[in-house]
Amino acid sequence: MGEQEQQYLALFEQFQTSEILEPKVRNPTLPVWTENKARLVERYLFLFVLVTHSGTYIDGFAGPQEPDQEGMWSAKLVLESRPRWLQRFFLFDKDPVQVARLQTMVDSQPPRDKVKNEPKRETSVFSGDSNPGIRALLERGEVNRNQPAFALLDQRTFQCEWATLQALAAYNTKLKIELFYFLPNGWLDRSLAAQKSEPVPTAWWGREDWKSLQGVKHFDRAQIFVKRIKEELGYRSVKAWPIYDKKGGSNVMYYMIHATDHPVAPHLMARAYGKAVSPVIESAEQVAFEFLEIGHLLEEKQ
Ligand SMILES: C[S@@+](CC[C@H](N)C(=O)[O-])C[C@H]1O[C@@H](n2cnc3c(N)ncnc32)[C@H](O)[C@@H]1O
Repeated sequence: MGEQEQQYLALFEQFQTSEILEPKVRNPTLPVWTENKARLVERYLFLFVLVTHSGTYIDGFAGPQEPDQEGMWSAKLVLESRPRWLQRFFLFDKDPVQVARLQTMVDSQPPRDKVKNEPKRETSVFSGDSNPGIRALLERGEVNRNQPAFALLDQRTFQCEWATLQALAAYNTKLKIELFYFLPNGWLDRSLAAQKSEPVPTAWWGREDWKSLQGVKHFDRAQIFVKRIKEELGYRSVKAWPIYDKKGGSNVMYYMIHATDHPVAPHLMARAYGKAVSPVIESAEQVAFEFLEIGHLLEEKQ
């Protein structure tokens, strides 16, 4: 294990028994809208990697939603985020056209800058359904268990199966793989009502009672997912961050459910959420001071 990995584990152990101070997610002052959801993921990983100096990124639905707007493409923003300290990328898509886009984007990345001590990187693009794909990846044990790992599950509606979340949550008992699970919201009632093929929503929800989700108030429905991810998948902190339809809009299109065991992580997500809509991309130096503050806050609480 490298020095940075040891430091990260030490940080994790230090706060493992402390209570997690949860940020508020309801009625955010700087709401994120769909155009910025990729930036939210990138900003969060940027902050996390400043702490960990390493990590693995798994993207289950990695092709661009808007191929003409690459600034809204999570996998691209994460790969291009500086400092380039994430080391391993596993990118999945089942559409061959999207896979080709992913491969072109990966191939166009510049080589590592040894002067800046950028680590060696490995990026794998997989073609096919990511549900069996991610499960097989985990069974092969290819995700480094000594580094933090993050799984983005940016599904359109019912593509991410509950069994995939279970496999990700069960992979590592010490450092659980963090989840960014996109729960569709704006159109979910319509999609649930329109379901003709029972196996699809059953696999998505992991149970046969998925119809019970229909007509539930949106915030409450997100909390049902939050509770299940906490209780059944065993994450210490699970929060549903609203992603609105447009700037100034009031319709929540998705809840980005962030599941983590790391006590510092919810604060980093709160910060990333507050910064995701800003036209100014902050640098590593600018955030260094606030990391110290988060550390002090948690130490005081112990
Ligand atoms: C909502 S888009 C992903 C958006 C992307 N994360 C971004 O930042 O732009 C969903 C992607 O998932 C892919 N997809 C749908 N079902 C899939 C499955 N079962 N396995 C893998 N990819 C899938 C689609 O081809 C599409 O590229």
